[in-house]
Amino acid sequence: MIVIKNKQAINKMKQAGKLLSEIFDLLNKNKIISAGVSTGEINDFIAKELLNRSLVSQSLGYRGYRHVSCISINDEIVHGVPSNSKVLKDGDLVKVDVCAAYRNYCADMARCFFVGDNKKINIAHKKLVSVAKESLDAGIKVAKPGNRLSDISAAIESKINENNYGIVKDFAGHGIGKSMHEDPEIPNYGEAGKGPILRAGMTFAIEPMITMGSDKVLIDNDGWTARTKDNSLAAHVEDTIVITEQGAKILTRY
Ligand code: MF3
Ligand code: CO
Repeated sequence: MIVIKNKQAINKMKQAGKLLSEIFDLLNKNKIISAGVSTGEINDFIAKELLNRSLVSQSLGYRGYRHVSCISINDEIVHGVPSNSKVLKDGDLVKVDVCAAYRNYCADMARCFFVGDNKKINIAHKKLVSVAKESLDAGIKVAKPGNRLSDISAAIESKINENNYGIVKDFAGHGIGKSMHEDPEIPNYGEAGKGPILRAGMTFAIEPMITMGSDKVLIDNDGWTARTKDNSLAAHVEDTIVITEQGAKILTRY
């Protein structure tokens, strides 16, 4: 069942989204994601900033997960486990994913970061990230009342296919609200015109995951880290949105 949120719930999710996106801003402004820094240290920074904002991590304690963020490097797609022994180097593509609640309502957000001088980053790697973002925007654009759920999936898929990247099928976007994961599941591929009709008050986390090669996924021995089977580079971006009569409003950008 897809929960339609009332005004109060949406306002809390707006707050959650704004506060969470502030933390991603700080990751940029304070150059937290730099060569020599470990993903454990980045997670510690995020933990402190969540606390500063009264945001409650939704990953900490989730099925035994012990961190406030997922930080995935290069061929790691999602659910990378932060560690003091995973140290970043120039050129790395780092995906940071955080889900947190403000007054019991969640926002979920992920962004890609390159380590080091942006001018020295491989153009093909930058393109992968651009297409991930474009596919997210394409999905968000059709998330409006009257359209159907799979219109989002189809819009994402079409943008990715235009560019011949792999679409990860093992994970999907999701409804979000009081819980990090609610109905519906929102795959990043599929035929348009299927599934429930979208209505104002629905709140979704949309999160395309794409690769420069195969879409096949392997899970590390840590039980979490999902990486490409062919070790190709992967990108992941995620925003939380609310559907309004005027179309989607993005809660994790301000
Ligand atoms: N933000 C992730 C998602 O979109 C949540 C993963 S948290 C973990 O589903 F605990 F599963 F790692
Ligand atoms: Co999510």
